[in-house]
Amino acid sequence: MVVIVALLSSLLIFSVIPPGNALSLNYYDKTCPDTDLIVTNAVKNAVMKDKTVPAAILRMHFHDCFIRGCDASVLLNSVGKNTAEKDGPPNVSLHAFHVIDDAKKELESLCPGVVSCADILALAARDAVSGGPNWYVPKGRKDGRTSKASETIQMPAPTFNISQLQQSFSQRGLSMDDLVALSGGHTIGFSHCSSFRNRIHNFNSTHDIDPSMHPSFAESLKSICPHNNKVKNAGANMDPSSTTFDNTYYKLILQGKSLFSSDQALLTSPQTKDLVSKFASSQEAFSKAFVKSMIKMSSITGGQEVRKDCKVVN
Ligand code: HEM
Ligand SMILES: *[C@@H]1O[C@H](CO)[C@@H](O)[C@H](O)[C@H]1NC(C)=O
Ligand SMILES: *[C@@H]1O[C@H](CO)[C@@H](O)[C@H](O)[C@H]1NC(C)=O
Ligand SMILES: *[C@@H]1O[C@H](CO)[C@@H](O)[C@H](O)[C@H]1NC(C)=O
Repeated sequence: MVVIVALLSSLLIFSVIPPGNALSLNYYDKTCPDTDLIVTNAVKNAVMKDKTVPAAILRMHFHDCFIRGCDASVLLNSVGKNTAEKDGPPNVSLHAFHVIDDAKKELESLCPGVVSCADILALAARDAVSGGPNWYVPKGRKDGRTSKASETIQMPAPTFNISQLQQSFSQRGLSMDDLVALSGGHTIGFSHCSSFRNRIHNFNSTHDIDPSMHPSFAESLKSICPHNNKVKNAGANMDPSSTTFDNTYYKLILQGKSLFSSDQALLTSPQTKDLVSKFASSQEAFSKAFVKSMIKMSSITGGQEVRKDCKVVN
């Protein structure tokens, strides 16, 4: 009996609990009960001043979780010869770090050394989709001590096809269903021309434009992003309702009006295509799936400490 219980519990430990720290909803109930509220208010205040904040925070959390787990490695500044993730190549859209710093400052004055930067970012990402689904965020992440620009090549690229996307997600324990649901993050925000340039100029030797892109949509992108583009921050909104967290993203994919090859690639496998159609016709199905997959992605942990300042290791 004892042997069976021991066997079962070790099986459970290895199959259910991801490596790293165990998370729970009530993690700060005794040590810093106002954690959620303080983060929510910091995000709210920032959004009032700057409508680009929600998309920035959501992408920041995704970026954080995909490199070394959700350990706030994306928040660390470069030090000396070590160039940090935030100064690496796919950082074009990373901004709004100040929102995390504001929340951290307030939390440090209330309960010093208790709330990790990784938890603050995970909470802020939930608050960033306000207007969309809401959910309770499990907490207890620790902050990491390493951030390397060279590791940002581990981020999936917008030029990825479906098998590359699948591989990138499965390496992090995420499924094809998670891939489709989480890509719905592209219902908000903005992209620079560089991220979809491959589809509208010299796509391949036989097509100048990616044939899977709607022709008039491609023309409109070409006028924003001409071949010899000199406008520094030129680009396009992810979708016409780019500040509303809705299922428009999936409707656009079905029309050939998504920005990235990686978005359009979701139609190239039967399983992901079926889900795109399902989410395009049901906001509720999308919301449910998004919440489930966000909790899964944000539970990839990896850190060791609770930083005092989110920009530097202790
Ligand atoms: C599936 C693989 C993914 C790829 C290849 C990808 C790629 C990109 C790229 C290239 C940009 C534009 C950067 C720029 O040009 O400024 C972007 C923006 C964005 N991504 Fe993704 N992404 C992926 C998944 C995700 C996930 C899982 C989320 C969150 C759940 C997410 C949320 C966002 C948001 C919100 C923006 C807009 C950022 C802003 O406006 O500041 N992405 N993504
Ligand atoms: C992105 O990286 C460049 C250097 O590679 C740096 O100058 C810039 O400040 C970084 N952007 C952000 C938002 O950190
Ligand atoms: C995706 O791209 C990789 C690398 O270029 C290639 O080996 C693979 O065959 C492609 N897969 C699909 C489904 O196009
Ligand atoms: C260019 O892309 C199209 C659409 O993906 C494809 O049908 C065609 O075979 C490609 N041409 C070459 C030369 O790879």
